[in-house]
Amino acid sequence: MRILAIETSCDETAVAVVEDGRQVISSVVRSQIETHALYGGVVPEIASRQHIESITILAEEALSKANMKKQDVDAIAVTYAPGLIGALLVGVGFAKAVAIGLDKPLIPVHHIRGHIAANYIAFPDLKPPFLCLVVSGGHTLIVDVKGYTEFEILGSTRDDAAGEAFDKCARVLGLPYPGGAAMDKLASGGDTTKYKLPRAKVADNELDMSFSGLKTAVINTVHNAEQKGETIDGASLAASFSAAVADTLVPRTATALEKTGYKKLAVAGGVAANGFLRRELETMAEKLACELYLPPLSLCGDNAAMIGAQAYFEYLDGNCAGADLNAYATMPIDKLFGNK
Ligand code: KG4
Ligand code: ZN
Repeated sequence: MRILAIETSCDETAVAVVEDGRQVISSVVRSQIETHALYGGVVPEIASRQHIESITILAEEALSKANMKKQDVDAIAVTYAPGLIGALLVGVGFAKAVAIGLDKPLIPVHHIRGHIAANYIAFPDLKPPFLCLVVSGGHTLIVDVKGYTEFEILGSTRDDAAGEAFDKCARVLGLPYPGGAAMDKLASGGDTTKYKLPRAKVADNELDMSFSGLKTAVINTVHNAEQKGETIDGASLAASFSAAVADTLVPRTATALEKTGYKKLAVAGGVAANGFLRRELETMAEKLACELYLPPLSLCGDNAAMIGAQAYFEYLDGNCAGADLNAYATMPIDKLFGNK
């Protein structure tokens, strides 16, 4: 089954053709980062407008790269939640029009379920159940992936997402938006122990996390240095921050592995590209004799191939939508609404 998948939830317009949830036939991504970088972050109105300009061209490009005509597609999939509402609506409106015009099934896909499904493309033998650490710009979750369409959140951030914290710290260090990748690069020459940064613990659930105190500590470190006329060692601050993020994520993931008894750990989302986090996860997985699934960098950030992968399993589960499909800015991964 060949699915044409559309992703427009944030600042990347993406279209892909994916076969049977595992094989990418074509995948195109057009990033809007250069435009949003001028403003230091994503401007929702501009994002929607750029999706409108790009979506038809990218869909044609994805089909042409796949050597397919639109009639050859078996179903249309689209990210319908969560994300920027105006941006999501562009994809949903486009996908509806194509599905109705071609008289093909329309499959709504949760963006974070898509991030997890990137692992099905990268690792053809990976099947649920497994544990997944999801670290993106808007989400930080430890998820029990019980089945392809069955999820339980075991832990999550109480405030900022890991990616959001990376972006805000990058900004205070004068790095361009989105700062995660730039922080990663800067950190490679730094000393992880030079700046003492907090590792927050939250009450009630040992698997829950918090990043806002860490973010504030970095901002205060930079501002205090500025006030005293001292220079900041940017590389070491980026390294100390990356180490603190990993120290928050990795032990909790280890605890979740022990609690669930899983020996399979997948990682998903933009922050899964982080070099420091990847190395720490590798060390932890080795210690626990756990199979680690780290997708290639091209599948960590937003793309439509991951949406096409998850769509296949949603389709098998009967999760199709009608012409009344709407978009939703927020939606939990484990309890979908409005798609049946
Ligand atoms: O998953 P994603 O592409 O979009 C969302 O669904 O949010 O994640 C984007 C986030 C941004 O915060 C970005 O700064 C971060 O992922 N990111 C990184 C790295 N590459 C991207 N954070 C740390 N290290 C990286 N190498
Ligand atoms: Zn994403």
